[in-house]
Amino acid sequence: GSCKFECVTCTAPVNIAVIKYWGKKDESLILPTNPSLSVTLGQDELRAKTSVAVSESFKEDRIWLNGREESIESPRIQNVLKEIRRRAHKRSADSKGESKLFQHVHIVSENNFPTAAGLASSAAGYACLVYSLAKLFAVQGEISDIARQGSGSACRSIYGGFVKWKMGEREDGTDSYAVQVAPESHWPEMRALILVVSDQKKLVGSTEGMQTSIATSELMKHRINLVPKWTDEIIEAIKQKDFTTFAKITMRESNQLHAVCLDTYPPIMYLNDTSKLIIRLVHCINDILGVEKVAYTFDAGPNACLYLLEEDVPRVLHLVKHFFLPAQSNGQPSFVTGIPVPESE
Ligand code: PMV
Repeated sequence: GSCKFECVTCTAPVNIAVIKYWGKKDESLILPTNPSLSVTLGQDELRAKTSVAVSESFKEDRIWLNGREESIESPRIQNVLKEIRRRAHKRSADSKGESKLFQHVHIVSENNFPTAAGLASSAAGYACLVYSLAKLFAVQGEISDIARQGSGSACRSIYGGFVKWKMGEREDGTDSYAVQVAPESHWPEMRALILVVSDQKKLVGSTEGMQTSIATSELMKHRINLVPKWTDEIIEAIKQKDFTTFAKITMRESNQLHAVCLDTYPPIMYLNDTSKLIIRLVHCINDILGVEKVAYTFDAGPNACLYLLEEDVPRVLHLVKHFFLPAQSNGQPSFVTGIPVPESE
């Protein structure tokens, strides 16, 4: 018979943190033990694309990720769906008139890059899911706190440019959401270079890694006190377009995160030999140039993200290719350049 349905499609880019989120004080609401700050990459580079549809003919909620049907029962997907529906109901005074609020939803999402290789796939995925659902159900106002309940870092991909995730103080999490510190247009020369060292699924997921770090690492206590200060300093560096300070904080913060991982018991080692060579190469380049022109940062995996200014991309890319392309045994690493984007869909 005839099948009427309503559908919304959106894309959301990956964000790469320069001040990392590592540790939760509330596991189910996803409230962090420190503020974090990231740069949202270009819309066409690493991104998730999600379509959401409602129809009277759908018998149940369903989800397909990268072409495969997955369980809709995942607690995080359920949290997101419940929260979107709750806000949509609250908004419509006469929800009986809004029949689509009672219809089931079908979700189809795909990434244009490897999932779960420490390339922030969950960040783009949940940001995209929440944004699309909010459009479909006409949910207005702040939605980054809903994305946060899918995957913490996802709240930052709701906005473009330079984005802070406020830690918040309230127990219900209502003050833990993302804010744009500066749009991409504020510092259009900023570039990100992703060095894909491995596209293998990571050994220790970020959720498990954070839990063990909080439970066992002594260094973690020191980090939690230090990170708010670094966050304020890097925001000031972004406002002043002070790349040297931006780079120094970014590298030291990444190194400290991986020191905390090593201090975790049993230790977590996300960096491999190639990652460590990249760190050495970046310091060599900066030494030769006499000032920090390139910064590296690593998430929960061996892949590097280099931040640098547009004018330095050709010579840095040349050096990176010279040192690393022949060294790869598992095929050629791919290089992806990204630029931050302004606030947009
Ligand atoms: O959002 P999650 O649960 O995938 O955690 C992401 C954690 C890091 O990527 C390592 C850091 C960050 O702030 O993005």
